[in-house]
Amino acid sequence: MERFHDPVLAAEIVAFLVKKPGIYVDGTLGGGGHSLAFLHALREAGYTGQSLLIGIDQDDAALEEAARTLRGFEAHSVLVKGNFQDIETIITGVCGNKGLAPKVAGILLDLGVSSFQIDTAERGFSYLREGPLDMRMDSDAPLNAGDIVNSYEEKELARLIYRYGEEPRSRSIAKAIVAWREKNGAVGGTKELADIIRGNAYGGEKVIKTLSRVFQALRIEVNGELDVLRRALCDGIDCLDDYGRMAVISYHSLEDRIVKTVFAEKARSDWGPKGVAMREPLAYGTVVPVTRKPLTASLQEIASNPRARSAKLRIIEKIPRRDHHE
Ligand SMILES: C[S@@+](CC[C@H](N)C(=O)[O-])C[C@H]1O[C@@H](n2cnc3c(N)ncnc32)[C@H](O)[C@@H]1O
Repeated sequence: MERFHDPVLAAEIVAFLVKKPGIYVDGTLGGGGHSLAFLHALREAGYTGQSLLIGIDQDDAALEEAARTLRGFEAHSVLVKGNFQDIETIITGVCGNKGLAPKVAGILLDLGVSSFQIDTAERGFSYLREGPLDMRMDSDAPLNAGDIVNSYEEKELARLIYRYGEEPRSRSIAKAIVAWREKNGAVGGTKELADIIRGNAYGGEKVIKTLSRVFQALRIEVNGELDVLRRALCDGIDCLDDYGRMAVISYHSLEDRIVKTVFAEKARSDWGPKGVAMREPLAYGTVVPVTRKPLTASLQEIASNPRARSAKLRIIEKIPRRDHHE
């Protein structure tokens, strides 16, 4: 049987995050690979008794798989169906039920989709597999890829393919989709869409890039991926205990830019308007970067898990609140 999903940079993440007993949150549970690594590390350090893992995913199939992966750790883990944009409410709710203070030692967000989601043809994530135009991570969500492909106006389609796919041929692809709709009624599935894209991409290796970019753009729009990220990062940081850490793995530049920007904003102290000499800042930064540059996977990991190729891992640490001198 194919593996559900191989966790990326798992050893590095555990080494950087698991420092003490406490509450650990895996906001993108997937098949539970990273969560299992957390729980093993906590057990090896003798911390399990005073620790809790909260796993969040919006995909029912992921939650089912994670429950299987984490069998044996039921007493130390709580799995929640939800969107990580609600990370604060979820943490407060779970901690409230358990009588724990909602102060978190570590948070992981491993962004995007899992191998299982991509490899399941009926989910419609892959241009390599014939399936419906779905692409929803949460199958209860109202909007799917077919709604977008078959109802957005040409300009809207072009804008989204450019913005979320950074695809230079966005306009001609949008035009071809709309022409297809006018002729045939609707784009029927992933294969039909892939054929339309192929017919309007530059040749050679660029075809594959264009296919990936358009499918990525649709996936981001369907799941509101970039819209929810900023809030999850800010609220997640608020939930961290002093010296608690947050690790985020991103797989493309649009996500990574948001992570980098939010982490930099949170690290910066506010010195007020330029030109005004201040003895201390209006507000101090609340986090520090743990590594100067983002970490990437080793060649060895990439050889066994090609998905790790584009991974960038950024980690910050929450610093104790510094108050102003009276
Ligand atoms: C890259 S996979 C995570 C794999 C996981 N780390 C593992 O070891 O198996 C990303 C997972 O996050 C979930 N996900 C993505 N965005 C989400 C969001 N906004 N809220 C909740 N889950 C999300 C996806 O459904 C998917 O299962």
